[in-house]
Order: sequence, then C-alpha cells, then structure tokens
Amino acid sequence: MNMALSPANEINETEFFRRDVIAGLSKKQKTLPCKYLYDEEGSRIFEQICELTDYYLTRTEAGIFHDHLPHMVQLIGPDSVIIEPGAGNCEKVEPLLEALEEPRAYIPMDISPEILLAARTRIRSQLPDLEVDAHVGDFTAPEAWQGVVTEKVAGRRVIFFPGSTIGNFDPDAARQLLAGFAAHLAAGDGILIGTDLVKDSVVLERAYNDSKHVTENFNKNLLARVNRELGGDFDLDAFAHRSFYHALRQRVEMHLVSLKAQQVHIAGERFEFTEGETIHTENSHKYTLEGFAEMLGGAGFTLVRQWSDRGGLYAIHYAEIR
Ligand SMILES: C[S@@+](CC[C@H](N)C(=O)[O-])C[C@H]1O[C@@H](n2cnc3c(N)ncnc32)[C@H](O)[C@@H]1O
Repeated sequence: MNMALSPANEINETEFFRRDVIAGLSKKQKTLPCKYLYDEEGSRIFEQICELTDYYLTRTEAGIFHDHLPHMVQLIGPDSVIIEPGAGNCEKVEPLLEALEEPRAYIPMDISPEILLAARTRIRSQLPDLEVDAHVGDFTAPEAWQGVVTEKVAGRRVIFFPGSTIGNFDPDAARQLLAGFAAHLAAGDGILIGTDLVKDSVVLERAYNDSKHVTENFNKNLLARVNRELGGDFDLDAFAHRSFYHALRQRVEMHLVSLKAQQVHIAGERFEFTEGETIHTENSHKYTLEGFAEMLGGAGFTLVRQWSDRGGLYAIHYAEIR
C-alpha cells in the first residue's frame, strides 16, 4: 500500500489541516473543507449514516447496481483495472469486482488511512487472485495519483466513483475534478459514477437531518477533530447542526450554527462567533440526468449509459474517453 504514514508525513497532514482550518474560519462565511469530516471517527459515523432509513442514497444506489450489474460488467469488459477515489470501506465495489471478467487490479484511494487499510485486508482475503493496491491521499491533489495509473493495461481502466461524492464539489470544481480524472485515462477507458438527483426538498432535508441525529454527530465530529488534533476549545454543545436544501443552487448545505456569541481558540488563533453565525461544512449537489450528462461532456467524457431507480431518486452514469 502507498501509505503516507511516516512521522514526517503525519506532521505534514496536521499542518495542512491547521492551515485549512485557520484559513476557513478566517473567511466572512466561515467554512471548513468537507474532506476533513472523514477522520477515523468520521468515517465510522459515515458508515452509520449509510444504514439510516432517512438516508435513501446508499440503498437506492445499491439497488441500481444490483439491477444493472450485468450490463455494467458487459460495458467494462475483461482485464479491467478499477480505480476508486474516495473508496471509504470499499463495500460498494465488491459485487462489481466479483462479477467482472478477470479484472487485473483494484486501486482504492482515500484520505482516511484506517478505513482503507481494513478494507484492503478484507478484499484481499475475499478475492485472493486480484491485485489490490491501496493509495492513501487526497484525490484532488495530482501527486496522489503518482503510481496509480502506470503502464497501459490490456483492458479498460475504469474510475469507480459512487456515493455521490462528486456532489461535494461545486459544479465548476466538479467539472475540473472530472477533467483531471479524464487526464489520467486513455481512449476506451471509462468512469462509472453515482449522483443524487434533484427531488422534493422534504425528502432531501430528511436525509441530512436524520431522526437519530447521526448526521449531527458526523458534522460535530469536525469540531471534535479540531479540538483533538489542533488543541482547539470548541464547546460542541454551543453549536447546532443545520442542513437545508438550497433550490436555486441545487444543493443541500450543511452548517454548524453558533448558539451564542462566543470565542474559540485554535492553535494560537482566536475566532469570534456571533449568535446564529454558521460554519459551512459541506455541500451535496443534486443533478438532473441531462445536467450531469452535460457535465461529463464538459470534462471530456462521452456518455454511454445512465441508469436510475423507479422513483427517480438517484442515478449511475457510465461514460468513456473516445
Ligand atoms: C461520501 S463518502 C463515500 C464513500 C464510499 N465511496 C461510498 O460510496 O460509500 C466519501 C469518501 O471519500 C473520502 N474522501 C473525501 N474527500 C477526499 C479527498 N479529497 N481525497 C481522498 N478521499 C476523500 C472520504 O474519506 C470518504 O471515505
């Protein structure tokens, strides 16, 4: 595994985190990058979110994969290399890897090393003939891709990007990210990508404000992480979780609301909060089928096929480099 776990790199990771936190909390609209939601604890809480009844995304996506797997396998063909940025616990890819005709390799990438390490061990024991080469890193950083895409393989390289992770990026950044993915691929290679679809705001807001408060714990863990790793003094009880659908921007926004005027100290810096002021922690952009086809086209992919569930909640798209 390509693990950035040497002490020197650990210091770098904390330093990057510190810089991003200080920069984000110094903005007029305070913000924290959503990739930091996924430390070991955050990844564990995210797994709980995926099991919630209110969070329809995971089971709807799994249903589409289940119903259309043979077609996906046929489109990808034999001898493929599957690359999964933001693989998390790598559970979604398993049925695909098992169904593919003699896949050459599986390359998961994630910023959260603990969950990736555990997943690699599991997949290696379940599919002993498959080469599994895990990479710890930020998939938005070009250096994280070094060694991921090497010599041309016999079959297709396919980027597997489920979980609506693309929705965490603003449309311009999403197009850039997809264009960056396309730059790592060659003619005939593809992308299999999941997106949440535009729908009734009640359904969306329930998914991100679940009745069991798991999403609240996920959101607040970011403040706990700042306290743990940067010696911050956030009082978690003095902030409330808030998620809402912004129809014009077609996105669910997640915030932490300061319940009173307060000061927070982090790594020698002081931040003032007024009552009601928020920290913007995540966006989850929603797409129409047409809108996402256009985005794929703008990033250099040619759409081959889209699949959706009967309720039109979620979609999976397969596109190729031509
Ligand atoms: C929404 S979850 C999806 C997980 C899994 N792919 C799924 O569909 O259930 C996002 C995953 O991407 C990882 N992640 C988020 N931003 C990342 C980044 N910039 N670089 C690498 N991994 C990232 C997180 O650690 C997390 O495992």
